[in-house]
Amino acid sequence: MKKILKIIGLLIISLFTIAAAGYVYINATDVPKYETLKIDYQVKSDSLTIKRGKKLALMLCANCHMNHETGKLTGTKMLDAPTEFGEIYSQNITQDKTYGIGNWTDAEILYLLRTGVKKDGQYTPPYMAKLPHMADDDINAIISFLRSDDPLMKADPTPDTPTKPAFLTKLLCRVAWKPFPLPSEKIQLPDTTNTVALGKYLAINLDCYSCHSADFKTNNFLEPELSKGYFAGGNKPLNRDGKVMLTPNLTPDKETGIGNWSKEKFIKAVRFGIVDDKTSLAYPMTPYTLLTDKEVAAIYDYLQTIPPIKNKVQKSQAN
Ligand code: HEC
Ligand code: HEC
Repeated sequence: MKKILKIIGLLIISLFTIAAAGYVYINATDVPKYETLKIDYQVKSDSLTIKRGKKLALMLCANCHMNHETGKLTGTKMLDAPTEFGEIYSQNITQDKTYGIGNWTDAEILYLLRTGVKKDGQYTPPYMAKLPHMADDDINAIISFLRSDDPLMKADPTPDTPTKPAFLTKLLCRVAWKPFPLPSEKIQLPDTTNTVALGKYLAINLDCYSCHSADFKTNNFLEPELSKGYFAGGNKPLNRDGKVMLTPNLTPDKETGIGNWSKEKFIKAVRFGIVDDKTSLAYPMTPYTLLTDKEVAAIYDYLQTIPPIKNKVQKSQAN
């Protein structure tokens, strides 16, 4: 009996030692690096493509990379990133050759946006957006814009501030978050005459689902519809003061979701942030003024087709 207790004691001590050593090791090392595949890719650009890319980048990249002091995409401290992930800084992505992406090839940018792996192999955790489902033509448009002489992208030598990922981030990067595979086939744009298909494409690629499902940690970025509480809200993004802002339920549940909303009400909310002509929606729900009524109506049509989930979410007080 004594011997068994001794063995159990030793086992517990060794488990603790292994856990402690693991903690020290993971904390001392950086987010893992991966091999980068050399891919053959060159952007196809013209003025219409750049314009389309700018619209997408303004909705998808500028909210994180815009620096209001330089007026360009030179990166900034991400006040709204959950602090459990560390101290996060978006980076300079202007044409600058030292701090920006002036020295990146089109293929290296594409590789990062698809997989989450930078040109030096460093993996970027989910606080940097990835576009595993975006149509080839749309990614091409974004890269065309990044490469263009648009004033937002003009070379600006503002140095990057390195991100300081927390232990939790480093741990999750080893056990849960991994680079996405490059899509094995061409991804086509949705048929714009099929509003449900267009709406699904937008709801996924504009990242509506990632905020409006249960939790960033349980989102399934490769198969978004399998995310916990898909579109049923309750996720806790922060506003710029670091206050938790609960996301509303957008499933067609009549009581707790948007099952009773008219299309017009939804369009006003999404494009202008106005609900019932009185409430204005607070950050991080920034109005999507660049989307057309038709595009937002398509998102509405799609949301009406997903499974309703009963989940009452309290309205947050922004201040
Ligand atoms: C939710 C915030 C967020 C969004 C949205 C976002 N980024 Fe980022 N981005 C970051 C952060 C944070 C980093 C730094 C990651 C790190 O340090 O690991 C980063 C890094 C990068 C880098 C690497 C820069 C370097 O010098 O290492 C590029 C390129 C980039 N982002 C481009 C984009 C583009 C293009 C878009 C839009 C399609 C975009 N990002 C959307 C937050 C974001
Ligand atoms: C960065 C996270 C984030 C993203 C991305 C996001 N939302 Fe939101 N959304 C929120 C938050 C937080 C609120 C609640 C704001 C408040 O309480 O004032 C909200 C509110 C809403 C509302 C109002 C619902 C209600 O019951 O009042 C609608 C509709 C909505 N979002 C639709 C969308 C659509 C469509 C997209 C994609 C085009 C989207 N959201 C992208 C965070 C986000």
